[in-house]
Amino acid sequence: MGPGLAPGGDCAVDPARTMQPLPTGPRPLLVLAPMQNVTDLAFMRVMEHFGGPDLYVTEYFRVYETSRPDPAILRSVDENPTGKPILAQLIGRDVGPLVRTVRELEEHPVAGIDLNLGCPAPVVCRKDAGGGLLRQPARIDRILGALREAVQGRFTVKTRIGYDDPGEFERLLEVFARHDLDALAIHGRTVREGYRSPVHPGCIRRAVEVLDCPVIANGNVVDVATGRAYLRRTGAAGLMIGRGAIRNPWIFEQLRAALGRRPDAPRPTGRDLLGYIHLLWEETVRTGRKEFHARRQVDKMKRYLGYMSQGLDPSFDHRIRRAIGAEDFFGICREFLDHDRPLPGTPSEESKRFCGFRDLLAEPLKA
Ligand SMILES: Cc1cc2nc3c(=O)[nH]c(=O)nc-3n(C[C@H](O)[C@H](O)[C@H](O)COP(=O)(O)O)c2cc1C
Repeated sequence: MGPGLAPGGDCAVDPARTMQPLPTGPRPLLVLAPMQNVTDLAFMRVMEHFGGPDLYVTEYFRVYETSRPDPAILRSVDENPTGKPILAQLIGRDVGPLVRTVRELEEHPVAGIDLNLGCPAPVVCRKDAGGGLLRQPARIDRILGALREAVQGRFTVKTRIGYDDPGEFERLLEVFARHDLDALAIHGRTVREGYRSPVHPGCIRRAVEVLDCPVIANGNVVDVATGRAYLRRTGAAGLMIGRGAIRNPWIFEQLRAALGRRPDAPRPTGRDLLGYIHLLWEETVRTGRKEFHARRQVDKMKRYLGYMSQGLDPSFDHRIRRAIGAEDFFGICREFLDHDRPLPGTPSEESKRFCGFRDLLAEPLKA
C-alpha cells in the first residue's frame, strides 16, 4: 500500500529515498495538469514564479517493450526547480514494461507514479494505451493490480469518464475501487468528447462518493468561479488545471486567495502578461535542448500564445499567428499588452481553445 495523498488532512512523510512529502492543509489540492510539450522544466519554473500549483505531474513517459524513460522528461524530475513534489506519468498497455519503468523511475526523486488513462490521440488509442484502455476494464484491472504491487510509493491514476459514453464510468469505478489508489484525477469527459464539450461533474461526484481515495476534478477550470463551482458540484479533494494555467499562470494564487478568503488575489494587467511572455521566452531558451533558432522559438511561443490570447482583442491572436521573427513577435506583444488595464478574467465563450466552461457555473437541475 502507498503512503497516501491526503490534501485535506495529514500526509505522512515517507522515509523512502525517492519520496517527497506532499502538501498538507485544509484546502483543496491544486495540481498542474500534465501537458505534452508544455509542462516541461522551463514551464514548471515559470509557473512557480507565479506561485505555482501544490503538485506537478510530468508529461507522459511512453512505455513499451524496448522503451527507456525519455531523458528530456526525466530532467523535469531530476532538476525539478520548484521545490514541490512531482508525479511521473506513464502511458502504456503492457504490464511487464510498465513495471520495469516504475522501477527505473523510482530511482529518481518522484513523489509517485501516475498512470494515464485519458489520452485521446488516435495513435495512442489504436494501441490500446491512454484513453484507449478505457474500452478494456478487465485489462485496466490487471494493470492496476500489477502496478499497485510494484509501486513503492504513491500510485495515482488520471482517467476520463469512459471511451464512448459516461455510462461506462460506473464499471470503471468498480475497477478503481479495487486497487488502493493514492488519488484519482478525473478529466470529466469521455475520450470521444475530446477537449471541447462541457464536463460531467456528476460523474466526479459519484467517484467522490464511492472511492476511498482523494478525487481530483479536472477539465474546464479557467478561473476562480469555475474552480469553485467544480469543487462545489463534485465535492472533490482538489483541482487539476491545464489550459487555464497556460492562459493565466496566476490562477493558482487566485484560487488560494479565494479558497482562503484572502483579499490579496493577483489582478494581472496587460503588462503583467507581457512579463509572463518574456519569462517564458527566456526560460524555454535557457533550458532548450536544441541550439537557439529564432523562428523555431517564435513557433514554440505561438503555441502558448494560442491560449493566452483567448479573451483579448481578437486581432492580437490574428497578428501573433502571422508573426515572423523575434522582433515582430515582441513588437506585436508590446502593441497589445504594454498597458496597466486589468486582463479579462475569463476567455471568450466563443473560444475554440476553451469550450463549455460556462456549464460548470450552471446549477444542476433539481429532481
Ligand atoms: C497540449 C496538451 C497536452 C496534454 N498532454 C497530456 C499528457 O501528457 N498527459 C495527460 O494525462 N493529459 C494530457 N493532456 C490533458 C490535460 O492534462 C487535461 O486533462 C485536459 O487539458 C483538461 O484539463 P483543462 O481543461 O484544465 O486543460 C494534455 C492536454 C493538452 C491541451
